[in-house]
Amino acid sequence: MEVLALLWLWALPAPALGGASLPELRLSAATGAVFVHELQREPFEEAFVAAREEDSAAVPVGPTTFHAHLGGRPDLPRWLRFAQRHPSAPAYLYGSPTDADAGTHSIEVLAYSRATYETVAQSVIVTVVPSPAGPPRYQGEFLVTDRDVEELLPAATRRRFAEAARGVWERRDLAIVNVTSALHRGARVPLPIEGRKEGVYVTVGSHGTFSQCLVAAASPQSRLRCRLGQQPVATCYDTFAPRFSIAWCNLSLLEVPVGSAAPAPVPGSGVLEEGGDFAPPTAAPAAPLLAGYLLTLLLPLLLAALLCLLLGHLMCCRRQGLQKRDKETPDIQLAHHRSVRGDAEELRRMAAARADVPRPLSTLPMFNVRTGQRAPPARGPPDAARRPLLPPQQ
Ligand SMILES: *[C@@H]1O[C@H](CO)[C@@H](O)[C@H](O)[C@H]1NC(C)=O
Ligand SMILES: *[C@@H]1O[C@H](CO)[C@@H](O)[C@H](O)[C@H]1NC(C)=O
Repeated sequence: MEVLALLWLWALPAPALGGASLPELRLSAATGAVFVHELQREPFEEAFVAAREEDSAAVPVGPTTFHAHLGGRPDLPRWLRFAQRHPSAPAYLYGSPTDADAGTHSIEVLAYSRATYETVAQSVIVTVVPSPAGPPRYQGEFLVTDRDVEELLPAATRRRFAEAARGVWERRDLAIVNVTSALHRGARVPLPIEGRKEGVYVTVGSHGTFSQCLVAAASPQSRLRCRLGQQPVATCYDTFAPRFSIAWCNLSLLEVPVGSAAPAPVPGSGVLEEGGDFAPPTAAPAAPLLAGYLLTLLLPLLLAALLCLLLGHLMCCRRQGLQKRDKETPDIQLAHHRSVRGDAEELRRMAAARADVPRPLSTLPMFNVRTGQRAPPARGPPDAARRPLLPPQQ
């Protein structure tokens, strides 16, 4: 009973545990651009306080840890990541959806106060809308060495980065397409030394071609210089410095082939109109389960009953009785057997009648022939395996 109760508690959704939950939040994300959502602390902190009793309302909420997962699942969708460095740092949901991720994603966010152990839940609905223009055709990936990923996620920093990128790639439609920590690309966790950062890969995309400056920095000649430990060929001024430190040797330029984008979905059966919400069917139609029931339950029962009957028949009706055995045994053998039994009976009777004669020695327990003493059996000769090969020296 107790185990059941525990299981039930465990299976309850998070809001039921903490009690409080915030109203649902609806966000939208477009493919071909990075999606960033900072989890705002204040609503959660207000909900912590609002859910309390009167007398403890003044207790400070303290640092808050956030957790995020797909509703009803343990992990986030493939394209979405969650970052919060420590309990008092801001928390972000970020990622770059692709056309394959279009649709509605329901994310459960759970805030947990480290000081008072209270929890508040919120469900965040992210709708991914495919962008009509498709992903930017030309994409340049920069490695920013002096940042952790959540330092590049605030909107102001991203804007500054895009501005700096416009200095080396003069396109007006430059946009940040992807932000990924270098740790997710196989880099090592930096040593805990002041100023060491994980590094962030930032992909900037445009529909127009690369600038001469970028092409030169990624040319084979530059690659060769990088291998020799030198700086790549620079034909323009590094407009990222001094705000962002870019590892120019790790610059990579990617050209997305035309037509690689999936064809736009045609509204109709199975495809929602723009902005429409998918309403899943609530109840599944009753499926015919009788055949399955009969097969899984009645068939084994029937088999077991048949086997029982067979065994009963064999044991009760097919038993070989005494009379049958006697009938099948030759008469001469029966007569012989009967005479042996009769003689043995007679011998027994005679032995019982002898009262004053001692019992034969062979029927007694162990005894000594010479002294007539009854004793437990002497120990036999010592084990040959334990005897020393050479006699002990005197
Ligand atoms: C974003 O970058 C990560 C890591 O480089 C990569 O796995 C992912 O596919 C990229 N997303 C898009 C939409 O390009
Ligand atoms: C940068 O590129 C070099 C090779 O050019 C590679 O060895 C290094 O691991 C890259 N750095 C990161 C953080 O990926």
